[in-house]
Amino acid sequence: MDEPTAGPRVEPADAHARTGEDRRADHDDLRARCPVARDGDRWMVLGHREVASAATDPATYSSAVTARRAIPNSLDGDEHHAYRALVDRYLTPERVADLEPQARAGAAQIVEALPRGVTVKTIAQIGLPFAVRTQSTWLGWPSDLEPTLVAWIHENQAATRSGDRRRTAAVAEQFDQIVRSLLDARRCGPARDLTGELMRETIHGRALKDDETVSILRNWTAGDLGSLAMSVGVIVHFLAARPAVQSEVRELVLAHDTRAVEAALEEILRIDDPFVSNRRRATAATRLGGEQVEAGALVVLNWTAANRDPRVFDDPDGYDPAANAEANLVFGIGPHACPGRALTLMELRVLTTELLRATTSIDPAPDRPAVREAQSVGGWARVPVVLR
Ligand code: HEM
Repeated sequence: MDEPTAGPRVEPADAHARTGEDRRADHDDLRARCPVARDGDRWMVLGHREVASAATDPATYSSAVTARRAIPNSLDGDEHHAYRALVDRYLTPERVADLEPQARAGAAQIVEALPRGVTVKTIAQIGLPFAVRTQSTWLGWPSDLEPTLVAWIHENQAATRSGDRRRTAAVAEQFDQIVRSLLDARRCGPARDLTGELMRETIHGRALKDDETVSILRNWTAGDLGSLAMSVGVIVHFLAARPAVQSEVRELVLAHDTRAVEAALEEILRIDDPFVSNRRRATAATRLGGEQVEAGALVVLNWTAANRDPRVFDDPDGYDPAANAEANLVFGIGPHACPGRALTLMELRVLTTELLRATTSIDPAPDRPAVREAQSVGGWARVPVVLR
C-alpha cells in the first residue's frame, strides 16, 4: 500500500471504542468538519454524499479488502454479479412472503413468554432468540442448534469489539465448522430445505463448491444474526424512549398498514443505525470529499454517520419516515446494497407487530439504564424495558 497522505485526523483505534459510549455524537462533530477523515492508516468516510459516491463507484472502490474471499461481499465486477444473482434468488419477495407465517409464529411465542411489569432484557430475551429462530427456520436448521448459535453471536461480537484479528478468524472458523456439519447431514437424497437447495446450486456451469456454500451461508447468518438482534434493540429502545412514536407505530400496527410499519422501522434504524460500516480498497488514486485518497488505501464507509448527515436530513434525530426514506442508507447503496432488506424488514415488522399487539405500553426500565454497544458493533448492548 502507498504511504498514507496527510488529512484530517480522528482518534486512533476508533473501531475499538469502549462499550457504553454513544459515539454517534463524536462522528456527527467530525463529519461536520471532515466528511472524509484520516483514521490511522485508513480513511473514514462519514458524509452522506461521499459514502454514496464511493459505494456506487465499485471500479474505484473495490470490495476485495481482505485475502479471505467472502461471497458475494468481497467480490467485484462480473464475478460479483454472477454470485449476487444466485443469492438474490433466495431473497425474492415471494420467498420472504412464504416465510412470514413461520416468522410470526416464532415472534408470537417469544413475546408470549415475556413477563409483564418487570424488567425484560431486550437483546437477550427478544432480539437474539428471535434472530436465531427466524434464520434457522429460513435455512432449515434444527432448533436444538439455537443455543450454540446464540453463544456464537456473543463470541463473534466480543471478538469484533476486541479488534483482535486472530480472535475474529478463530470465531469465523468455528462458525464454518458448524455449517460444514449441516452440509454433511444433507449430502444424500433431494434437497429438503433451503440449505440443501443452496448446496446443489451451480455457478459458471459447475456445481457450487462446499467452500462457496459455507461462505454464502456465513454472510447470511454470521453478520446478519447480530445485525437483526441489534436492530431489535435499537427499535425497542426508540419506541420506549419516544412514546409519541410508539403510539403512532401502534396505530399503524392496528390498522394493518404493513408498508408504513416497515417505513417506520427503517427510519428508526436510520437515526440509530446499528450496522456501522463496510470497507473498500481504492483501486487508484482518487479524490473524495476534498481529500486525496491514495491507490491501495483502505476506505471505511460509515453508514451510521452518513445516515445522520444534516446536509441531507434537515433534522437528523427527527423521526420523519416519509421525508427521509429516499436518502436512507441503512441497507447500503450500489451493487453491494443489502439483498436481505425485504427479509429483514419483514422479520422486524412481524416482531414489532406482535410486541405492540400484546402490550399497552413499552417503557424504559426505571431501575436500569440502557447501555450503548462499542461503536464497532453498533446499537445497544443492553436495553432494559418493562412491558405492560
Ligand atoms: C438489520 C439487518 C441488516 C442490515 C442493517 C444490513 C445492512 C447491509 C448493508 C449496509 C450492506 C452493504 C454492504 C456493502 O456495501 O459493502 C449489506 C450487504 C449484504 N447483506 Fe445485509 N443487512 C442486514 C441484514 C441482512 C440479512 C438478514 C441478510 C441475509 C439473509 C443480509 C445479507 C447481505 C449480503 C449477502 C450482503 C452483501 C451483498 C453484496 O455484496 O452484494 N443482510 N447489508
